[in-house]
Order: sequence, then C-alpha cells, then structure tokens
Amino acid sequence: MASLVRSWKPLWAKLFSQWPGHLSQTANTSCLQRCASSLTSHQIIYKKFGDPRQVLEKTEVQVQTSVQKDEVLIKMLMAPVNPSDINMIEGTYFIRPPLPAVVGNEGVGEIIGKGEAVSDLNIGDWVIPADSGWGTWRSYAVAPRSTVFKVANDIPVDSAATLLVNPPTAYRMLKDYVDLNPGDIVIQNGANSAVGQCVIQLAKHWNFTTINMVRDRPDIDQLIHYLTDLGADHVVTEKFCRSPEMKDFMKSLPSQPKLGLNCVGGSSSTEMLRYLGQGAKMITYGGMSRKPIVVPTGALLFKEIKLEGYWNTEWNKRNRDSQVRDDMYRDLCQMIRDKHFKNPVSDNIPLDQYDKAVAESLESFKGTKKILVMDRNLL
Ligand SMILES: NC(=O)c1ccc[n+]([C@@H]2O[C@H](COP(=O)([O-])OP(=O)(O)OC[C@H]3O[C@@H](n4cnc5c(N)ncnc54)[C@H](OP(=O)(O)O)[C@@H]3O)[C@@H](O)[C@H]2O)c1
Repeated sequence: MASLVRSWKPLWAKLFSQWPGHLSQTANTSCLQRCASSLTSHQIIYKKFGDPRQVLEKTEVQVQTSVQKDEVLIKMLMAPVNPSDINMIEGTYFIRPPLPAVVGNEGVGEIIGKGEAVSDLNIGDWVIPADSGWGTWRSYAVAPRSTVFKVANDIPVDSAATLLVNPPTAYRMLKDYVDLNPGDIVIQNGANSAVGQCVIQLAKHWNFTTINMVRDRPDIDQLIHYLTDLGADHVVTEKFCRSPEMKDFMKSLPSQPKLGLNCVGGSSSTEMLRYLGQGAKMITYGGMSRKPIVVPTGALLFKEIKLEGYWNTEWNKRNRDSQVRDDMYRDLCQMIRDKHFKNPVSDNIPLDQYDKAVAESLESFKGTKKILVMDRNLL
C-alpha cells in the first residue's frame, strides 16, 4: 500500500499543483476530466458474511472521473469503525447488504467532481452518507447526489466523519421520548461508548443530570475522571449498581430517573430498570452484551415503566430533508465549533491497516474509537 500511495501522490501533485489537502480549492470537474480519466480507489470489501478478522479483503478499482449528470465524485477522508459495521460484516445486523459489499456505514468525503445537474454541491464541500450500507471504507467513490448529505466543512474532520450516527442518536433519545427539564435525571449504561459520551455532553449542555453505568476495569479511576471531565454527574460501575450502596445513593437523589438509555442489554439493563422512576422510559438502542433484556414484572406492573427502541437509520429515513433534521445538525455543528461537544478519543489508522483497526475494535475495554484515514495527510 505504501508504494501505491507513493505512486499516485505525485500524479495528483502534477495534476493539481496543490497536493495535498487543498484539492478542493483547485479541482473542478472539467479539470478532472481533462487531466485524469480514472482514479485508483482502494476499498475494503467482504464477499461473505463472517468474522470481520477473516472475511475482509482490500481491493483496487478504477473510478471514472467523468461522472453522470446527477452524480458526484468523492474523495473519502475518514470513516470510523462502528459496532454496526462489525455486525453488518458478521451478517447479524438488521440490514444485510448484497455481496460483495464495500464496508462502512459512516464517514466523510470531499466533493472533487460533479455532474452538470448537481447544482447544490460545490467542489470542496464535505458530504456524509444519507443511509446505512453506503460503503465508506474506500478512497474514492462515485455516487448519485441523492445518496449523500452536505455537512459543514468548518468542523474537525473526525467530528464530520462521525456526525451521522452517534451524535444524532444521543440527541434524539434525549429530545423525543420524555419531556426532560433542567435537573431531571437520565441513567445510561455503556456510558463510555461513543454514544454514551455524546449523551453526557448533550445532557450537560441542556442541564440534565446523568448517572453513568460502566463496566469495572483495572483503570476505572482514570475512566471516571475522563467521563466526569466530559460532564458526567455520577459514574457508577455495574458491580456497584448491584450493591446496597447504590440503593442508598439513589434514595439520596432529589428525584428518580425519568429516562434510561440502554445499549448493553442483559443484567445491565435489568439493573437500570430497577432504578428508573415511576412511569419512566427505557430506550434501547444497542445490545453490546448480546444478551436479551430481562424485565422485572414489577417494573411494568407497579412502576409503569415503558420500553421503546431507537434506530437512527429509520429516523433518518423518516426525517430526510426535514427541518427537524437540519436544526439538529445545525445545533450539533455549532456545539462542536463552540467546543461544547467533542469526539471520543480516537486512534486514527490508515485505511490499509483496516485489519488492525477491526481487531482492536473487537477488544473489550478498548478505550478509543478507531477511525480509518484515507488521506494520509490527515494522520
Ligand atoms: N440504534 C441506533 O441507531 C444506534 C446508533 C449508534 C450506536 N448504536 C449502538 O450503540 C452501541 C454503542 O455504539 P458506539 O459506537 O457508541 O460503541 P463504542 O464506542 O464502540 O463502545 C462500545 C461500548 O460497548 C461496551 N461493551 C462492549 N462489549 C460489551 C459487553 N460484552 N458487555 C457490556 N458492554 C460492552 C463498551 O464497554 P467497555 O469499555 O466496558 O468494553 C463500550 O461502552 C452499539 O451497540 C451500537 O450498535 C445504535
């Protein structure tokens, strides 16, 4: 891969004189067409479902620079490794793409060419996929205009690369299910996950109190410190949640949680249910433990707890081109610019080391989000 990079980098340098990074200011469709009829795209694909450590392979394809009138030519910049990518490769996700498929549900790319009918995007704009299964783990893509959304390009590139899934999931779960007022309490498990970190920061911004459940680990003090710094009000281990001290702690609070956010399932969600207040809702958005949710009968009968689920893909589909969606992204981007909302700590890994990124993503207590980087100048 390194030698391939070296071989196409000078070509771009010659073609656009401003290699690297500022392609956006110099390239246009006619120049692309005149200068190079195709680009080599490196892409990570799978031909069968299975263990992500075994079924992925890297391929190269030629991408034509002369796009159809309603298409865009995109230079991918960064794409995260998310649990949904892992599950999609395994074939255990709700969506099973036709194979072979390019991996990657989320990521950001830069427009470097466009067809004549595309009037609302310019060269240099950043775009993110409009839907799951788009295939972001590649260096270049030609796609219909309708399959991408424009996103602000004055925010950090890693924030843009991870804006599609986790921040909106946290945002919608806090906004759409329970009428929360300042001081109201939200409890969540998997609180150190990327979504959990978004929940902590949004809740802080909107003055909701958070109780954050995490798994115990050798460096637990470090994690508690990190989440508290981010804005977490209380951080508790799952082990502590099973102790009498947790009951005392909950009794000491001015009110009980109105909202629970569950991405773990199994005993973790059962514990959470015990601590929800009368009539509260638990929203399930993930199942990291791969265990079912067991609901104590009393939670339904006497506490009238409601159970619901959130799936960002479906929300996106229903709210495509809506004002509520635009408002949310404007809000999130402004919070990023104002430094009220930051990305989880990430390891930025070159695309050709996708196997390392995938293997590390599968580890417990991994601590950092793995983000694949297509443009080595962003490393
Ligand atoms: N429904 C939706 O629309 C939607 C949107 C975004 C994300 N999600 C889901 O939300 C979850 C988190 O996603 P993310 O990108 O934020 O994840 P992430 O940053 O990769 O973090 C994974 C989290 O899962 C925990 N975890 C891993 N294995 C576990 C296990 N066996 N038992 C308990 N906890 C475990 C990790 O805790 P440790 O540090 O203790 O390992 C960590 O908190 C995933 O299930 C994802 O699919 C759903």
